[in-house]
Amino acid sequence: MVLTALRGLLLWGNLALVASSNPNSQSLLQSSSQTPSSTSLQESFQVYQPVLFDPSGDNSCDVELLLMDHIFGASYGSPFVGDYKPPRCVFDTVRIKLKVTARGRQYDRLALMYLGDNEVFRTSTAEPTTNGIVWTYIKEMSQYNSLWQAPQKLIFDLGNIINDIYTGSFYVTLTAHFSYRQAARTADIILPISSKRSVSNSASSFSVPTDNTTVMVEIPAAAMRAVVSISACGQSEEEFWWSNVPNEDTQGFESTVGGLYGYTPFREVQLYIDGILAGLVWPFPIIFTGGVAPGYWRPIVGIDTFDLRQPEIDISPFLPMLQDGELHSFEIRVTGLNVSADGKATFANTVGSYWVVTGNIFLYLEEGYPSKDVTMKDSQGPQVEAPLPTFSISRKLARNQSGGNESLSYSVVAERTFRTKSSQFSWSQTLSFSNSGLLNRQGYSQVNKQLTTGKNIITERGDTPTSNSTSFKYPLVVNATYGITANGLTIDSWMLRGLNFETTGGPGISTYSLTSGPSYLRTTQSGKARYSSVTGGSSTSWGDTVEKYESETNGQAYQQSVHAINGTVVHNTGSQDKVQATPQDHESGRGSVKAILGKGPGSPAP
Ligand SMILES: *[C@@H]1O[C@H](CO)[C@@H](O)[C@H](O)[C@H]1NC(C)=O
Ligand SMILES: *[C@@H]1O[C@H](CO)[C@@H](O)[C@H](O)[C@H]1NC(C)=O
Ligand SMILES: *[C@@H]1O[C@H](CO)[C@@H](O)[C@H](O)[C@H]1NC(C)=O
Ligand SMILES: *[C@@H]1O[C@H](CO)[C@@H](O)[C@H](O)[C@H]1NC(C)=O
Ligand SMILES: *[C@@H]1O[C@H](CO)[C@@H](O)[C@H](O)[C@H]1NC(C)=O
Ligand SMILES: *[C@@H]1O[C@H](CO)[C@@H](O)[C@H](O)[C@H]1NC(C)=O
Ligand SMILES: *[C@@H]1O[C@H](CO)[C@@H](O)[C@H](O)[C@H]1NC(C)=O
Repeated sequence: MVLTALRGLLLWGNLALVASSNPNSQSLLQSSSQTPSSTSLQESFQVYQPVLFDPSGDNSCDVELLLMDHIFGASYGSPFVGDYKPPRCVFDTVRIKLKVTARGRQYDRLALMYLGDNEVFRTSTAEPTTNGIVWTYIKEMSQYNSLWQAPQKLIFDLGNIINDIYTGSFYVTLTAHFSYRQAARTADIILPISSKRSVSNSASSFSVPTDNTTVMVEIPAAAMRAVVSISACGQSEEEFWWSNVPNEDTQGFESTVGGLYGYTPFREVQLYIDGILAGLVWPFPIIFTGGVAPGYWRPIVGIDTFDLRQPEIDISPFLPMLQDGELHSFEIRVTGLNVSADGKATFANTVGSYWVVTGNIFLYLEEGYPSKDVTMKDSQGPQVEAPLPTFSISRKLARNQSGGNESLSYSVVAERTFRTKSSQFSWSQTLSFSNSGLLNRQGYSQVNKQLTTGKNIITERGDTPTSNSTSFKYPLVVNATYGITANGLTIDSWMLRGLNFETTGGPGISTYSLTSGPSYLRTTQSGKARYSSVTGGSSTSWGDTVEKYESETNGQAYQQSVHAINGTVVHNTGSQDKVQATPQDHESGRGSVKAILGKGPGSPAP
């Protein structure tokens, strides 16, 4: 830990001043990075609408800073810690470029980046190959302008483990570009809903269900708008939450495939303010690059794998209640469902182990603050209409001739509406979810078909009300069958998934749409993949994945269609300059069926 911190400081001492508008700064940065020799590295990529790293502004500010150049070897519990100092020019636009190379065998890992106690970026890694892989991801970061304006402890937590089997280290460089472009106004204050451990050079995420996720916050009286972003994803027993079963069925195939994970495939992330429900997130089913069948995700990684979106809850209707100069509690909960013997579903108020959760409260202050007097608000709570969701559940266990459990079919359908309203704002959510699952062949084969849709509307009330809305749709179908052969294991799978949303915009830059103003995204991934491992020997995996991507941000439309087979891109309408490598030896990072699929022999991914 001390060493990491020292290393961060040293870096800053040596390299922070690389910052300049000097066109050579880029090459300086590159020569400083400790990457494996870049010959024959295969390029992994996430399909996304390109973001320009160094957009030209009015030239008053054009600065590139190296934020981190670090090897994540045995880094579990030892994040990179650096001291960020803002450049000495006025900027309103910040973009970051993450470049990662890795070689050897390694799990895909989750990584969280913080400025102080605020999580600002959640990413995950691709699985490396023997010859090595490389990827680059550029991200809009101006939504965190108010944090970038001040010195910050920059904490990058990529927990990795190195041992005899898992040899791959991640070589990571992170650079930032600053410019002034008269861009959209962003939040004035960003308060963390996190465990706030930057003071001890630690990561600040909460782990649910073990941690107390309540924080006490004072909201300034000058705030006229408030939006909470929620960052949450399942790990270990909860990584494949969309394929989990009701608790009563977790032992259904104990004698064949072992225990299954429970709480049904339904998940709800809830935000509470002073114990009052303030909004909901029905999460996107992220699939990491080691998940279901690793062959799907090479070299095209899963949707959002390099940048996990953070859905937003507009809490402006709560502002009058919060602006009394007192502390108020904010809490994020994650829940699945319990199903009673008579088939009724209720919130479990908990989940399996575990979810990684944080939030940020984005506050927009009244113009002219602090010189202008701020009137005290009425301190009344909002009207909240939060009827319990309607759930309909079915479960059917079928036995074979010898009385053994042969198949389980189950389904969960949920609908929910939610609304908060006070004098100036109202917020409403309409959500629906369905998942039908079938485990057959004594549990060895499983299909889940899931669909999550929703629409959120924020309305500024008054004589001529104005509204913004965001609608989304997350379809997912995954069929995965594993088998035990004479000398090993196989997984055969096909899938079809998508992420679609359309938004009319909102204040600032959205942590969900990743841009300002109106935008949409429609993307699907489909494919088939196979994994096979030889007991005591090596594993191979192959796959065939097609991604179609269509989006529009800032009035610019973007389309890309990509097809990869067995690790090689065979068709790509996007950037033609992509160097195509031949398939490489790839020992799947995740060493067991349970780590890959969430059931079967072995232990779950950490
Ligand atoms: C959780 O933390 C809050 C805020 O620090 C505290 O008020 C509350 O008592 C804690 N709850 C439990 C169960 O420890
Ligand atoms: C069959 O399923 C039931 C209900 O889940 C379970 O209690 C029982 O142990 C299962 N039988 C076997 C042999 O796994
Ligand atoms: C749901 O079931 C789990 C596991 O049995 C239990 O710990 C939890 O208390 C239950 N939740 C409720 C609200 O009863
Ligand atoms: C019935 O299912 C059990 C496992 O639940 C399995 O061990 C047994 O071989 C099956 N019998 C037949 C006839 O398929
Ligand atoms: C799922 O895959 C298995 C094995 O490939 C196949 O037998 C089964 O029919 C598939 N299920 C569906 C619903 O496609
Ligand atoms: C709606 O979004 C636009 C930006 O797209 C923003 O200027 C406006 O203030 C927003 N209105 C509400 C009520 O959120
Ligand atoms: C992908 O690899 C598998 C296994 O080696 C092979 O059977 C299949 O023909 C390959 N597909 C293509 C298009 O090369």
